[in-house]
This record gives sequence, structure tokens and C-alpha cells, in this order.
Amino acid sequence: MSIRPHGGVLVNRFFSSPVDRDKNIAVASSLPRIKVDAYASFDIDGIAKGIFSPLKGFMNEEQTLRVLDSMELEPGIPWTIPILLSVSEEQAKALETGTDVAIEDDRGVLVAILHLASKFRLDKKHLAEKVYRTTEEAHPGVAYTYGLGDVFLAGDIDVLQDREVEFQDYNLTPAQTRAAFDARKWRRIVAFQTRNPIHRAHEYLTKCALEMCDGLLIHPLMGTTKSDDIPGDVRMRCYQVLLEKYYPQEHVMLSIMPVNMRYAGPREAIMHAIIRKNYGCTHFIVGRDHAGVGNYYGSYDAHYIFDEVDPVALGITPIFFDHTFYSKRTGEMASKKTCPGTAEDHVMLSGTKVREMLGRGEAPPAEFTRPEVAKVLIDWALGATNA
Ligand code: ADX
Repeated sequence: MSIRPHGGVLVNRFFSSPVDRDKNIAVASSLPRIKVDAYASFDIDGIAKGIFSPLKGFMNEEQTLRVLDSMELEPGIPWTIPILLSVSEEQAKALETGTDVAIEDDRGVLVAILHLASKFRLDKKHLAEKVYRTTEEAHPGVAYTYGLGDVFLAGDIDVLQDREVEFQDYNLTPAQTRAAFDARKWRRIVAFQTRNPIHRAHEYLTKCALEMCDGLLIHPLMGTTKSDDIPGDVRMRCYQVLLEKYYPQEHVMLSIMPVNMRYAGPREAIMHAIIRKNYGCTHFIVGRDHAGVGNYYGSYDAHYIFDEVDPVALGITPIFFDHTFYSKRTGEMASKKTCPGTAEDHVMLSGTKVREMLGRGEAPPAEFTRPEVAKVLIDWALGATNA
């Protein structure tokens, strides 16, 4: 018996039969049409597959404001980041509330039908301040927010087409991961969110958590990310070489999460947990500066925010970790909670330092990253330099 999805029901907004789908593609072809970017296209896919259960569509004004001000989708259902669809003023004028609108995705595919229930405006600064805790445009999430259209469209969607991604074989839906966990008889499943290659510190978190659970879901985010994040295909190779040698296959699963990175730190940590609950996980790892960017969040803000949410309503258990590193003194991975010593005893490298080393074809020390992972990263860095 797997964990209940958020809000009680795992949403599925795909048409149930091919006949229905074909009929609706024909209907959609004659509807007024809007075209959306990759970000909104991933959100549509997320709604369709139940990744955002209990959401069945894009949020209305009341839900959005409740999410911003009270961190709830509806009373008793925690939610921290609005899922929104925006269009320009001009586009909005042509769309009538109470009618259906066809949505074309970033690849030119007629992907969904929106049952337009309402149109509304939002104070984007308020939105940014609440979600990202800053109104600075240098923050990638804020920059994206300011670039949204001025009118937001709310309503349920019905989805015509699955969004295929690279590594589609690893793109299990929440229904599929749930079935996979049941098949393996895993009852306590911990999810690990990442948008980076898995280095030793990450590996340590996953293994500490796995000691308390039956299974580990390595669940890298593969929706839109900022351009200087390491590309998905490179990360995927890193995960594969790592898993092959350093994890027991019978307790670990690798599957991707086709959801956009928002860089919203604490609020995103809660969303990441809710999403993993929908995928059937019971526990969720939150480490240092989870989903952070720059210096916008304190190292443990993403831990503290869980105190503001009712744990029963959240329904998935966070597992918090301090900053972890290799301790030269004890000869093992640790945090300040588990090893004595000073900073000189710790092997810690900044992202910039690691990038510089890789660019020179130099592997970071084995205490920082496994040599097989380093090799994938060096090949990529040298390829990028020579390209
Ligand atoms: S994130 O944007 O997905 O959070 P990243 O892939 O680097 O970025 O981190 C994945 C998870 O590992 C997050 O929970 C993050 O807090 C945690 N983490 C990353 N590095 C460390 C570290 N050195 N110590 C503790 N936790 C870490």
C-alpha cells in the first residue's frame, strides 16, 4: 500500500482512450490557440501526469493569493509555489472566459485544451517577494516572473500529448514509480532531488537516508534549468556510472523528474517534497541550501520552512542534513554534527573551483567526487572548451 497522493487523488489529465484523444485533437484544431514556452509546457505535462496532484489545471487568483500568503492551495492542503499560465494583454482579449482554448507547446505540438474559467492580473513584485524572497531581477526565478505575460489564465486542462524528453525510459510517471515501489515491496522510500552531478557529499546524504529506508529514488530534476547548470545528458551519464559501481541495485532507482527548476530555495523545498509524495515517496532529503541560488537564502532556510507547514497535511517526512564534506581527520564523509575538527580538516570545494579544475582537465580529489564521475565531467568540460 503506497502513500496517499497530495490531496488524496493522483490526478491524470490525459484522455483515457486513443479515440477520445483523436476526437479532441480535431476539436482543439478549431479552437482559439495560444502558444506557450518550454517552462509552461513542462508545467502542463506535470499537471497531466499528477506530478502536481491535486492540481487539475492552472491556478486562479484566489488559489494563487492563498498560496502566496498562507502557503496553502486550499485550507488544509499545503502548497508553496503558484502554477500559473500567462499570456499577453492582447492575447487575453481574444479569449473568452467559459470557453475552451487550445494550447500549443514550445515544440509546436497541440498539447492541451484549457477550460478557461477566469482571467486575472497579479502584482508580479508581490509574487516574486513571496516565492523567491527577493524582487531582484538577478535572481533567475524573479527574472522569469517579470517576463511573464500580464494576464493569467486559470482553468482545468485536458492533455492530448505526453511530453517526451531525452531519457524517456527513465521518465517514469508518479503512477509508474508507485507501481515500481510496490513491485519491489519498498514501504519506506526516500527521494533525492538534485540538479547537479552526484558528488561525495550528495552520495553521503543518500546513503545515510537509505540506512533508514527500504529504497532510494534518485530523482534528478530535468525540466528547464538556468543555462550555466550542467546539462541533463552529462548529469545522466554521471548518475549512471555512479550507480553502476557505488550503489546496490536492489535498493536504488534512477528516474527523472520533468519539472522546472525555480531556484526558490525554501518554498521550492516544500514543493519538491510534495511532488515526491505524489511519486509515492515517504521521505525526502533536504540538505544545505536546497534549491538555492547565489546568496539569496540562508544555508538552512529550506529546513526552517518545514516548521511553518503542518506535517500531517504535508504527509511526507523531510530528512534534514547539515553541510557535509570529507573529514581528513576521521577519514570519512561527515558533517559538523558527526566529526570534530576545524575547516582545515574538511575537503570542501566551491562550484567555481571545481569548474576551473575540470576546464583544465584535472579531476577533483576522490574525497570530493568519484573518479568515474570526474571523468564524465572532464570529457564534457574539455569538449565544451574545444568546441
Ligand atoms: S538543488 O538545487 O537540487 O538543491 P543540488 O543538486 O546541489 O542542488 O543539491 C541536491 C540536494 O543535496 C539538496 O537537498 C541540497 O540541499 C543537498 N546538498 C548539496 N550539497 C550538499 C552538501 N555539501 N551538504 C549537505 N547537503 C548538500
